[in-house]
Amino acid sequence: MRHLVTLDDVTAAQLETIFAITEDLKSKFAQGVREPLLPGRVLALLFEKQSLRTRVSFEACMTHLGGGSLMLGADTGFGGKRESMADFARVLSQMVDVVVIRSKRHDTVTEFAKHSACSVINGLTDRAHPCQAIADLFTIRERFGGLAGRKLAWVGDGNNVARSLALGCAKLGVEFVMATPSGYEMENGYLDRVRKQCPDAKLTVTSDPEAAVDGASAIYTDVWASMGQEAEEAKRKKDFAAFQVNEHLFATAPDDAVFMHCLPAKRGEEVTDGVMDHERSVVVEQAANRMHAQKGVLVWLLGTHAAG
Ligand code: CP
Ligand code: NVA
Repeated sequence: MRHLVTLDDVTAAQLETIFAITEDLKSKFAQGVREPLLPGRVLALLFEKQSLRTRVSFEACMTHLGGGSLMLGADTGFGGKRESMADFARVLSQMVDVVVIRSKRHDTVTEFAKHSACSVINGLTDRAHPCQAIADLFTIRERFGGLAGRKLAWVGDGNNVARSLALGCAKLGVEFVMATPSGYEMENGYLDRVRKQCPDAKLTVTSDPEAAVDGASAIYTDVWASMGQEAEEAKRKKDFAAFQVNEHLFATAPDDAVFMHCLPAKRGEEVTDGVMDHERSVVVEQAANRMHAQKGVLVWLLGTHAAG
C-alpha cells in the first residue's frame, strides 16, 4: 500500500515519475483534454483546518480524472470521540480509494495510514506539506528547465512547508539554504536525518537573509505564524521583522530568480506587495501547479503507473 505522508515515502526516481505524469497531464489539460485515468475512483478529504488550494485542487483533480470526491468534516466524527481513529480508518478505507487528510497533529495522519486499507495523502500537518513541495519543485523545474544544481533560499520559519521542501530539494539535487531567526530552525536532528538519507544534499541554515538569497534561483517564504500558532503571532511578528522578503532583499538575488510562496500570504508581513506582485513572482503558477502535480501523485498512487 502506497501512502504519501511525507516525502520520505517517495524516492527521487518516483518523484521524477510523478513529474513526468504531471507534465503530460498538464499539457493535455492546456489543450482541453481531461484524460479519465481514474474512472470510478473516489477520494475522501478529511480536513481539520481551513483550505482553499489543497481542497479545491484535489476535488478538481478527481473530476478531471473521471473519479469523484467527498469533502468530509466533523459531521463524520473525524477527530472527535465518536469512534477510535483506527475504526474510522478501517471503515472509510473500505469505501473510498484514497484519503487526503489535513490535521492539526501529524500523528493523526500516521495513525490513520496505519489502519487504512487505501492510500493516504498528507494534505498538511504541523510537520509536513508534501503535496506543496512536489508542486513547488515541479514549478522550479518547469521555469528553469531542470532542478539539479539550482538553489532555493527559504527565508522564514522552519515549518511544515520548509521541512518538506528541504527533503524534496535534498532528494532532487537542489541546494536548500534557510535564513531564519534563532529559535525558529527545524527541530534538532531533522536536517541531519535528511543528510543521512541524501548524503550529497546541500543544506545550510543561516540568520542572514542576504547571504541566503545570494545566487538562489528561488526565494521562498511562508507566513510567520502558521495555522494553530495564532497565539504566538505578536511575538513572531517581532522576531521575524528582519526576515521580510521585500524589494530590497529580492533585488540582491540573481536577475532571473523567482519569488515563491505556498499561500495564503500575509501581505505586508513576510512579503511586500511589490514582491508578491513582481513579474518574477510565481505564486499563482505554484497554486495552479498544485492541481497538476496532485494529478501526478494520484495517478502514481492509484493508476496504471503504480508499478514505477
Ligand atoms: N498552500 C496551501 O496548502 O493552501 P491551502 O491552505 O489554501 O490549502
Ligand atoms: N505554514 C502554513 C502553510 C499553509 C499552507 C500553515 O501551516 O498554516
